[in-house]
Amino acid sequence: MPSRSDTARSQRFLKACRREATDCTPIWIMRQAGRYLPEYRKLREKHAMLELAKTPELATRVTLLPVERFDLDAAILFSDIMVPLWGMGVPFRIEESVGPVIDDPLRTEAAIRDLKSFDAQRDVPFVLEAIRQIRRELDGRIPLIGFAGAPFTLASYLIEGRSPRRLRWTKALMFDRPDLWDELMGRLTDTVIAYLTAQVAAGAQALQLFDSWVGNLSPAQYATFVQPHSRRIFQALKETGVPLIHFGTETSALLERMAEAGGDVVGADWRIPLDEAWRRIGQDRGIQGNLDPAVLFAGSGVVRREAGAVLSLAGGRPGHVFNLGHGILPETPVENVACLVDFVHEASRRPAS
Ligand code: CP3
Repeated sequence: MPSRSDTARSQRFLKACRREATDCTPIWIMRQAGRYLPEYRKLREKHAMLELAKTPELATRVTLLPVERFDLDAAILFSDIMVPLWGMGVPFRIEESVGPVIDDPLRTEAAIRDLKSFDAQRDVPFVLEAIRQIRRELDGRIPLIGFAGAPFTLASYLIEGRSPRRLRWTKALMFDRPDLWDELMGRLTDTVIAYLTAQVAAGAQALQLFDSWVGNLSPAQYATFVQPHSRRIFQALKETGVPLIHFGTETSALLERMAEAGGDVVGADWRIPLDEAWRRIGQDRGIQGNLDPAVLFAGSGVVRREAGAVLSLAGGRPGHVFNLGHGILPETPVENVACLVDFVHEASRRPAS
């Protein structure tokens, strides 16, 4: 990691989120603290994923692993989008190669009405302590991003019980019982606002809302069943003063609606060219993305060429945060990550003015 005096690096990501000019384009990588790292796999031999997330010392260590290896411009808290659901009284586990599993999905009115209300200090003190420890360790070198799952993505796990593919039950509830749907989304929105506000109070310097599964909706469905709730989150979080990133995948048809809901920066996946995504999001916002994570399995020449293509579509305009279009894949060659991070910095370097 560079020394504290490297102010250009420490500011790059936050400045780009505010669409201010930077010395070069900042980069961080979604799921950067995960299974492609040999050090992470080693820790996982001894500790379950949720144990890592629940133990502040371990969550801090995992958060810092990628930051020590690569010249990344931001760290992201090691946790999972499901973690605040414990506080709502929903037991879940994380299954290897599957993801979160809820044995008793929420499909009845009684189950939804029985959800407890979330209190960050009471339910996730370990997350807040991890944030404080990570900030101390980072010592101002790079900022820390906090995050939460968006209400729609959380609801889809709650209702389907595992990684949703078709979202049959979720959509059935949405269509059949819009009143109950709104109640569930409202409860999740309250949780997300309380959770993210507490993360900022503990030291998170930017926030990302992950609406990973929202691309399963049509624009009309999004506008009716999701947008009002996501909008409430972004409005409430404005008060924290930290940059807000709004992310989803397969959102090519939804970008305008997502930008309306809010976010200083909107994420785009690789299925849409970055310049087109930026036009649709609006030039008054930043954009994050959007290299195909699979590119990192090709040769380093391809990594540079494809990353260069993303940079040229961004055109050096302030407000681009380089990232993959979705999380980094397990087994990604580590040397290609180093190659990508260094290339993005070098190829986007702007002459000092
Ligand atoms: O970015 C980071 O490095 C921070 C940590 C982080 C994890 N999950 C750790 C994790 C973050 C930001 C998440 C968010 C998350 N979790 C999302 C939104 C982002 C996205 O990719 O769309 C979603 C949908 C989940 C739910 C989830 N948790 C899935 C689908 C899986 C399994 C698939 C996978 O990526 O491994 C998990 C488990 C999980 N969360 C792991 C990690 C490192 C792997 C668990 C393990 O160690 O075996």
